[in-house]
Amino acid sequence: MEIPADLQAALAGRYTLRRVLGRGGMATVYLADDKKHYRAVALKVLLPGLAAFLGAERFLKEIQIAARLTHPHILALHDSGEAGSFLYYVMPYIDGGSLRQQLEGPPRRALSQEQALAITQPVADALSYAHRMGVLHRDIKPENILFSQGHPIVADFGIAKAVSTAGGANLTRTGFPVGTPGYMSPEQAAGLTDLDERTDVYSLAVVVYEMLVGDVPGRWPTEDAVRAGRFLEASASHRPRLTSIGARIEGALVRGLAIRHDQRTATTDALIDELTRGKSGPRRRYDKDEVEEIVKRATELEANKTASGAMTIGGVQALAGEVGVAPEIVRAAAESLQAPAPYVTPGSLAPNRTNHWVAGPTELFFERVIEGELPESEYAAVVEEIRRVLRNAGQVSQFGRSFSWVAARGPAIRRDLEVAVSVRRGQTRITIQENMSQLIGAVYGGIGGGMGGGGMGPIIGVGVGALHLVGAAVVVVVPVWLGITYLTARAVYRRSSTKRARELEALANRLDTLVRDLVD
Ligand SMILES: Nc1ncnc2c1ncn2[C@@H]1O[C@H](COP(=O)(O)OP(=O)(O)OP(=O)(O)O)[C@@H](O)[C@H]1O
Ligand SMILES: [Mg+2]
Repeated sequence: MEIPADLQAALAGRYTLRRVLGRGGMATVYLADDKKHYRAVALKVLLPGLAAFLGAERFLKEIQIAARLTHPHILALHDSGEAGSFLYYVMPYIDGGSLRQQLEGPPRRALSQEQALAITQPVADALSYAHRMGVLHRDIKPENILFSQGHPIVADFGIAKAVSTAGGANLTRTGFPVGTPGYMSPEQAAGLTDLDERTDVYSLAVVVYEMLVGDVPGRWPTEDAVRAGRFLEASASHRPRLTSIGARIEGALVRGLAIRHDQRTATTDALIDELTRGKSGPRRRYDKDEVEEIVKRATELEANKTASGAMTIGGVQALAGEVGVAPEIVRAAAESLQAPAPYVTPGSLAPNRTNHWVAGPTELFFERVIEGELPESEYAAVVEEIRRVLRNAGQVSQFGRSFSWVAARGPAIRRDLEVAVSVRRGQTRITIQENMSQLIGAVYGGIGGGMGGGGMGPIIGVGVGALHLVGAAVVVVVPVWLGITYLTARAVYRRSSTKRARELEALANRLDTLVRDLVD
């Protein structure tokens, strides 16, 4: 391809154009000699029509924003200027080719998961830096990912913005594409101007898809697909590759490509996180014997506190490590086990407080103190109210001027919920307390049972049976047994325990009002 003589003449003095490196939608890139610094550079010259349309001043001003970016994986900007009627900018010459060339082959091929992630990570890092600096790329695609000594370098940062801002709203009508079909986010393709980093998340997800599958997705995933975490309408030729990369990566990509940006992965960091979390593949499922062995060891550890009260947690840490639980988490759990039993004294902080491991309180406690003494003749009215609100007859016992109501729990009565009213020295005190271990067992055990065919009830019992022992044993056992459904169980328990807390608080308020009416 020949080099235009007028361009060469306009640049004379400063750059000598050697040959055309490539042509894109907006520009031609030349290999050139920088005569001042005696080095090879890549000189990108906007197409003449575009340059005239944009106007030099606006374009060169806009490009300064991108020029401020300094990052090991962002191609730097050496220089920019106007020569004759030409607008150009100068960047280091990168001789390792582009990701497009890597993918194109021949033969056209997909990369392995490791290769693809090794390229994606630095690119995402570069994007994340630029986003923090307030710059979007807007044109992420394999052509703009170059390789320098094997390291990916992102080119053309902010150029699409420079072109679209300089061109203003008229630009789309001129026919110059800003962004690239197939890689552009839906909102960008729709011509929206208030884009955010999710537009780059989208384009990067397309590139990752292309690296792994060998072709661009070609269509935007439906909302159903985003919910399902799968490309439900993937073509027959893509499906086997998508299946081979595994559900987690497919899910990460489908979320990264969500057509609605409010359903899309919010940041490039989050995209990387989703793509790489547990890169080694699906977690190993432990068989029943192995789980029992782990439980046994966790239980022994609990029994074997040393004289100083410290636990030997190395073993649990090692086991936890195998299922992806960080040692610090185990240590924290062990420490929380050594803390005094959470509930005894009213007003102590532990009840109602969220225990991290189960995502909710292990004990609920509400107290109301009312000035004035509830007459004995009104005890029955209060009990009636408790029965009515809780829809449970319960068992009532009276000791002098105190009485308590305990929930009836079928044949084997478990004193899980107790409402006590005591009258003393001019005050009436109401306490409501519930031990949540039943609910914990039901939620975590129930889901475990569904997954693993039973066993979870007794196992969780090891952890929470002793009421305050919601710690290391659960940390280790629950993820082992449930895999990712541990997270589901946490969500369920969080919801149920919050609901329960609200119900009991409402009861406390109700009784408070009633007793105030009844005291003399
Ligand atoms: N700094 C560089 N060093 C070496 N080659 C480059 C450099 N910059 C661009 N190229 C090559 O020149 C080609 C054309 O680049 P150009 O940026 O004009 O187009 P594009 O990236 O294909 O599309 P777009 O116009 O959307 O950016 C690229 O495909 C790339 O291989
Ligand atoms: Mg480019």
